[in-house]
Amino acid sequence: MFDLPDDEILPQSKQHAFWTWSAQAKVNPIPIKSARGVYFWDTSGKRYLDFNSMMMCVNIGHGNERVIEAMVAQARELTYAAPGMATKIRAIASKLLAEISPGGRLTKILFTLGGADANENAVKLARGYTGRFKILTRYRSYHGATAGAMALTGDPRRVAWEPGLMPGVVHFLDPYRYRSTFHRTMPDIPEAEFCQDYLNHLEEIIRFEGAETIAAILIESVTGTNGIIVPPDGYLQGIRKLCDQYGIVMIADEVMSGFGRTGKWFAVDHWGVIPDIMTMAKGLTSAYAPLGAVAMKPEIAAVFNERVFESGLTYTAHPISLAAAVANINVMREDKLVEHAAEMAPVLNRLLKDLGEAHTSVGEIRSIGLFGIIELVKDRETKEPLTPWNESSPEMIAFRKTCLENGLYLYTHWHTALIIPPLLITETQLKEGFTVLDKALQVTDKAVK
Ligand SMILES: Cc1ncc(COP(=O)(O)O)c(C=O)c1O
Repeated sequence: MFDLPDDEILPQSKQHAFWTWSAQAKVNPIPIKSARGVYFWDTSGKRYLDFNSMMMCVNIGHGNERVIEAMVAQARELTYAAPGMATKIRAIASKLLAEISPGGRLTKILFTLGGADANENAVKLARGYTGRFKILTRYRSYHGATAGAMALTGDPRRVAWEPGLMPGVVHFLDPYRYRSTFHRTMPDIPEAEFCQDYLNHLEEIIRFEGAETIAAILIESVTGTNGIIVPPDGYLQGIRKLCDQYGIVMIADEVMSGFGRTGKWFAVDHWGVIPDIMTMAKGLTSAYAPLGAVAMKPEIAAVFNERVFESGLTYTAHPISLAAAVANINVMREDKLVEHAAEMAPVLNRLLKDLGEAHTSVGEIRSIGLFGIIELVKDRETKEPLTPWNESSPEMIAFRKTCLENGLYLYTHWHTALIIPPLLITETQLKEGFTVLDKALQVTDKAVK
């Protein structure tokens, strides 16, 4: 459609494109040409197995014709409508999201452009609903890169932009068992006690901050890039209880953990917890078009029945994105991809365990659904990470390089490697990726003391 020789894609991009999350002089992007299912190809024809669903978002896999057709049909019918207009696709999409929301209870939907602005709007709604200001979020979290979402983020990506971010956010600690601050000398503590200690920690913070000042507790239901931290049973239920007790709005960030990623539509569904507000993006359209959403209980929306909700976006409820979302959800239903992710969950967990047993540099593996992680260490006893805090290391760089050279694309974060493939992946394809991981871990094993 648009002409540019393949061999000019990289140099021309490097000259004119500005890259996010990167030092401009050091970028080395893959010049991607096409993608299908769980694979993509670069301009030299090399095939990669996509173990990160690109950016943890292509949940249904690449190049799905049903979604593409729906987007094309929508573009022909009505490409865009002003945010204040009612469209057929907006009516269908919002009803569909209300139906699949936890317990079918989050029945009012605000559409955004992605995850960061979904979280920012969730905060505005919670502040408006409660008349309170503070938001509690966790340290091991990522909630987006706009100024408000960055303030919500707990990990060091926030620190780079301080001061100047949205005020009023207080962070607390995550129930991260492998490196639990409170339990270093009691690794075998029963799950219920471990869980209660973290709920007590949170309640103490609520009291110190003043419950009457706290609008919301906002958390990733299962932590994504900061470690696939699966909450102990009772934790999300405990947060729900604390929110009810203190009149705080519970916001679940399901941007990464939603849409089948954990083997349920939403991660909160594993524990039967219904948040007051839930934010979504990524798997909402499987990234066929940009879209985020905030689903809320009707009583939260009702606060703005007479009062104006002073916020909006030009591209709110963009028809092409909504067509992608509806078609994407239909594909997930027709192809039973949520069920498939649940079926693949024990397969992925077994493969991770086998890898852990075979390689001394694996400190711990964790997974839920098709959401997995390998945590790499220099020493299993001390759990010393393979990279220093918030850095990379030659071993980690070599690990990723080996994966890429062998056609496996994946995301590494500090001393961890994430396994987040498209949900339609088969056991054979998972094993294909693990053969490469096995090879790449021989590199990191050499760093073990
Ligand atoms: C849990 C979570 N929340 C929010 C976001 C931000 O989403 P976006 O990049 O669409 O703004 C991300 C992105 O990775 C995420 O993982």
